[in-house]
Amino acid sequence: MKKPPAGKKGARFADLIARADEILSGPGAKDAKLSAICSLLRKQVAHYDWVGFYLMDSTGKELLLGPFDGEPTEHVRIPVGRGICGQAAASRSTFVVQDVSKESNYLSCSLSVKSEIVVPVLHGRKVTGELDIDSHSKSAFTPEDREFLEEICRMVSSRGLV
Ligand code: SME
Repeated sequence: MKKPPAGKKGARFADLIARADEILSGPGAKDAKLSAICSLLRKQVAHYDWVGFYLMDSTGKELLLGPFDGEPTEHVRIPVGRGICGQAAASRSTFVVQDVSKESNYLSCSLSVKSEIVVPVLHGRKVTGELDIDSHSKSAFTPEDREFLEEICRMVSSRGLV
């Protein structure tokens, strides 16, 4: 078992990993589990204001909105390469934007959003989806958030849920 990162946030995140694992290993359909993960993260982490999964379509060129928790968004289909989501999919790596007003390739959902993190879900080198989180605070996401959310995405991938 990997040691959680040091510090308060680390202990909090270790607890959330355990709770996410319970949800993922419990009963229920795929979408219900992903939805429960979104709600868990949004409710338990103060700076996570919108939490959702995007799922890669069968062409591998477009991301489709999946289960989410937060305000409805108009961005239900995002081409790979467009916006923060599309760029994270194209690069196959986590993309953190601490101030969305400074990102030119950005798709705005709401003026309240100030920072965003997008973590791809990978199966080998293939992106099958991603976890997208918006925050109403600038510079909300630290390396601990990144490590935590990458672990959540590995859990979702290893169970074949995304
Ligand atoms: N801001 C994202 C679009 C999705 S919403 O945040 C839910 C982007 O730039 O790709």
